[in-house]
Amino acid sequence: MLTNELKEILGSNICYFATSTKDGMPNVIPVGLVEPIDDSRILIVDVKMNKTRKNLRENEMVAIAVTDVEKLRAYQLKGRAKVVTSGDLFERAVKLVKEKMERRRRRLKDKLEKEDDPEIRKKLEEMMKRELTPKAAIIIEVKEIYPCM
Ligand SMILES: Cc1cc2nc3c(=O)[nH]c(=O)nc-3n(C[C@H](O)[C@H](O)[C@H](O)COP(=O)(O)O)c2cc1C
Repeated sequence: MLTNELKEILGSNICYFATSTKDGMPNVIPVGLVEPIDDSRILIVDVKMNKTRKNLRENEMVAIAVTDVEKLRAYQLKGRAKVVTSGDLFERAVKLVKEKMERRRRRLKDKLEKEDDPEIRKKLEEMMKRELTPKAAIIIEVKEIYPCM
C-alpha cells in the first residue's frame, strides 16, 4: 500500500500529523521524526507531544499530510494509531532520533559557519546543544491514501 516513493517522501519531509478529541476537536502538528516501517505502517516519534498524546488516548483515528516540493508530490493518509513505550518498535524510535539528530547537527553546523547575525547564531548554537528524548513510538496502521496534487 505504501509505495517506495511515498515511503521516501514520508521519511525525508516534514509531515503534518492530525489527531482529534473523542468529540472531534481537531489538532495538527508538524513532525519530522517519521519512518515507514513496512508497506502499511509508519512510525512517528513522540519527543514533545502533549495534546496529540491526550487525543490518542481518546481517539485512535489519525491523518497525516505530507508534501515534497522538489518532486511535486503531496499525499494525505488516514489510519489508526497505537502508542508503544517499550520493545522493538520503541528501540527503533530511539535509533531514528539518534540518526536524525546527528544529521540535523551537521546541517546546523554548516548553517552556523555561514551565519553572521549574532541572534541567529545564538539560536543555532542552542539548537545544536538540544537533546531529544523519545517518550513513545506512535505506530500508524495506514488504511487510506489520497494524492493531493
Ligand atoms: C519542523 C518540526 C518538526 C517537529 N517534529 C516533531 C516530532 O517528530 N516529534 C515530536 O514529538 N515533536 C515534533 N515537533 C514539535 C511538535 O510539533 C510541537 O511540540 C507541538 O507543539 C506539539 O503539539 P501538541 O501538544 O498539540 O501535541 C516538531 C516541530 C517542528 C517545528
